[in-house]
Amino acid sequence: MANNVVLLGAQWGDEGKGKIVDLLTEKADAVARFQGGHNAGHTLVIDGQKTVLHLIPSGAMREGVECLIGNGVVVNVEQLLKEIDNLKSMNIDIESRLMLSMACPIILPHHIALDVAREKAKGKKAIGTTGRGIGPCYEDKVARRGLRIGDLVNAKLFAEKLREVMDYHNHSLVQYFKQQAVDYQETLDSIMPLVERVVPMVGDVSEKLYSLRQQSKSVMFEGAQGMLLDIDHGTYPYVTSSNTVAAAAAIGTGIGPLELDYVLGIVKAYTTRVGSGPFPTELFDEVGQWLGEKGHEFGATTGRPRRCGWLDMVALKRTRQVCGLSALCVTKLDVMDGLETVKICTSYEYKGNSIGLPPYGADALEQCVPVYETMSGWNEKTEGIRDYTSLPVNAKKYLDRISELSDLPIDIVSTGAERDDTIVCKHPFQEQ
Ligand code: GDP
Ligand code: IMO
Ligand code: MG
Repeated sequence: MANNVVLLGAQWGDEGKGKIVDLLTEKADAVARFQGGHNAGHTLVIDGQKTVLHLIPSGAMREGVECLIGNGVVVNVEQLLKEIDNLKSMNIDIESRLMLSMACPIILPHHIALDVAREKAKGKKAIGTTGRGIGPCYEDKVARRGLRIGDLVNAKLFAEKLREVMDYHNHSLVQYFKQQAVDYQETLDSIMPLVERVVPMVGDVSEKLYSLRQQSKSVMFEGAQGMLLDIDHGTYPYVTSSNTVAAAAAIGTGIGPLELDYVLGIVKAYTTRVGSGPFPTELFDEVGQWLGEKGHEFGATTGRPRRCGWLDMVALKRTRQVCGLSALCVTKLDVMDGLETVKICTSYEYKGNSIGLPPYGADALEQCVPVYETMSGWNEKTEGIRDYTSLPVNAKKYLDRISELSDLPIDIVSTGAERDDTIVCKHPFQEQ
């Protein structure tokens, strides 16, 4: 039985991670976020009620489940409290079971200003970020000048450090980007009144996880974004600014890598991407449009339309390799209901050669041409199906082929947005 399960996006994000975390934490004691910030938008649908979580772990709806935000997560304090209050209005008390690492970098208004200014300056080469200040905040962390949650406890020191870092960034905002400076006093005045509510939630997440492990408790490590957006292994520079691979679960919470028992890769039955960057299997025809409409493919954070395309097994192979996946969970199978034929990309043509793994970097990937295998689709509805045997024959064949090509078992299949519209062949927290 696995106790520490990492769940991550195997593509470019929005694979349906939130839904699956919420479902599986029925049997978990805690859920930990380990990277990213409120660039994430994780959707939960429970009895028809939709909730989108950005920073709060998706175990929030399960009473008694502890929610941890590890050191790898960049935190916008205002957003955090807003989400807590939103849950409170739904009668969900999260404040008493939420722990925030003191080592989390804080996202400040100048990070957002810089994110927006950089994108604007890049023009056509813009990354298409979520504009949440994620990249600039991680930059400050690595540059060792960032402010962290732990800094909030000492108001005087916080104010001094803030002054220094804002002077530095305002210089480039005004001089280089020709934008307005962000007001220091306003920034300080906006964050200080929030401190009182944040401090009681601050704790030692690493220690907490160690102790949960000692007690053989079950913990879900909830990834944000997807492996192909990883800062090192993704389609650089069209990536996010954190590591989204499985190993990040260890670094981003403070747990040893050998303590991670199981890695579940969430993969959409097709592919989507928001923002710029190479996407070999992208569809520009009516099928792409159809997938986007039927799958309601609009960003849960920014509302932007997501680009749609066929399933890319070449890219998935990279995820399998880099993340050491134990199994797959295939989501949104129902969106493909009614397609006459379905395609799977099994290799790329690159510089006259056939390749089975994506090359590193956006420029090389941009030159890759997908080679497809075509299969018959299915007309029957898979929507809402909850047992594997009831799936249409061709849908099963499609899943079998994914399993065969990836050399991975498919533990879970999702057939609708609703929590229970799911086929669980193997529950990672359960003895089989
Ligand atoms: P996440 O970021 O990986 O948590 O995914 P998002 O919440 O951004 O996007 C996934 C979208 O698909 C959400 O609107 C979900 O409610 C929805 N969804 C998840 N699983 C399924 C499924 O199996 N079928 C359908 N039709 N929708 C799904
Ligand atoms: P979830 O967790 C999909 C994308 C942005 C952009 C790039 C960099 O919901 O799957 P950033 O703001 O992070 O600097 O933007 O990453 N991106 C996501 N795409 N799902 C997400 O999160 C994403 N978070 C960031 O669109 O291309
Ligand atoms: Mg999302």
